[in-house]
Amino acid sequence: MDKLIIRGGRKLKGEVTISGAKNAALPIMAASLLASGYSTIQGVPRLRDIMTMGRLLAHIGAGFHYEEGKVVISTERLKMQEAPYDLVRTMRASILVLGPLLAKYGYARVSLPGGCAIGARPINLHLMGLERMGADVKLEGGYVVAKARRMRGASIYFDLPTVTGTENLMMAASLARGRTVIENAAREPEVKDCARALVAMGAKIEGAGGSIIEIEGVDDLRPLDYTIIPDRIEEGTFMTAAGITGGDITLKSCRLDHLDAVVMKLTEAGLVFENREGGVRVMGPGRPKSTNVTTLQYPGFPTDMQAQFMALMSVADGTSVIKETIFENRFMHVAELMRMGADIAVEGGIATVKGVGKLKGAPLMATDLRASASLVVAALAAKGETEVRRIYHLDRGYETMEEKLKKIGADIRRVKEG
Ligand code: EPU
Repeated sequence: MDKLIIRGGRKLKGEVTISGAKNAALPIMAASLLASGYSTIQGVPRLRDIMTMGRLLAHIGAGFHYEEGKVVISTERLKMQEAPYDLVRTMRASILVLGPLLAKYGYARVSLPGGCAIGARPINLHLMGLERMGADVKLEGGYVVAKARRMRGASIYFDLPTVTGTENLMMAASLARGRTVIENAAREPEVKDCARALVAMGAKIEGAGGSIIEIEGVDDLRPLDYTIIPDRIEEGTFMTAAGITGGDITLKSCRLDHLDAVVMKLTEAGLVFENREGGVRVMGPGRPKSTNVTTLQYPGFPTDMQAQFMALMSVADGTSVIKETIFENRFMHVAELMRMGADIAVEGGIATVKGVGKLKGAPLMATDLRASASLVVAALAAKGETEVRRIYHLDRGYETMEEKLKKIGADIRRVKEG
């Protein structure tokens, strides 16, 4: 198991190239199952979750090849329509194969993901939508077993906008008979990117990116050749790193328009942004200003940026109130930040963060993907040395994070443990 050793206190300076978005690549890889033939997806980051999806596709019988950001998936000879527990438990996004397999092959058996570090994360809305589209869905021995001769269009309303739920149903509806309308759909840029990829495959989808999506089912979809959007959460994470170190960095391949809420909050905290040709310049303040944040579905402030923002607020001038409304257990980083000297009180879904001037390095344990990122951000500004263990969480979602940070001046190294 690897760990990161970080000596804080260096101002970050230089250019960072942002990788493709993990949460756009995963559904689009699953979408390749809707066609027969070779699909190519470009701009795919080399991450553990991407490789897990590759293993899942290979388990199903698809060919999966990854080389320098390019994924080629061949779906001509699938041997089964199953996502086993061992793969699903390491990556919940495996549930994304449910809709495509069911719509294309009329059958899917996918392990129920179960809870995870950040919350219970049920999939009832995915299943409700598939049932409304005519699927017979049963739970057997911890697996969702779904059957449908041919899916049919339906009107679906989500009680809560769900990102992977919207993607799953959009994919299934693309091959259904008739028209599907999803109301209160998730509006995240990754959902919109998935819709664009489906349209490139021949699907008829309107409204993705808004809260009502209409899909007119077609009989066949063709394989895909598509380049995915940059990772807005990686962008936001590097912004907080610039903010906490008082740095001056330029993010290349950055889509600022996907990060409005984050940029507004970081501006309130004292960061300065300059949109220039070839990148976005981000300048950190002397000391960040306290700023309140509430996580919400897009276009609100993303839950995937809450932990990194809290790291920044832990050294801010004043007290910030951070409210998490998406996942019930997404404050796992708090105890670790407190081990670095942060002053944070949590009650229910609300964290009150009293900014301390300086954090101190400490041995820390990463608990989930974004929590790990927040510990790295905090360590970059802490006095002395921080050790972040269990960084396999970080490797699930950030491509060569320590190399990118090193390139802009951070004192950071990866060490093999044990
Ligand atoms: N929910 C239900 N029932 C459902 C589905 C969701 O009650 O059937 C609830 C969830 O429990 C949660 C809320 O709805 O309270 C939103 O969850 P959502 O379904 O949108 O989350 P997700 O699709 O499982 C994706 C990202 C997450 C990101 C969330 C929220 C992928 C692969 N994952 O998860 O990314 O936090 O949306 O934006 O797209 C990460 O990258 O670190 C990560 C966790």
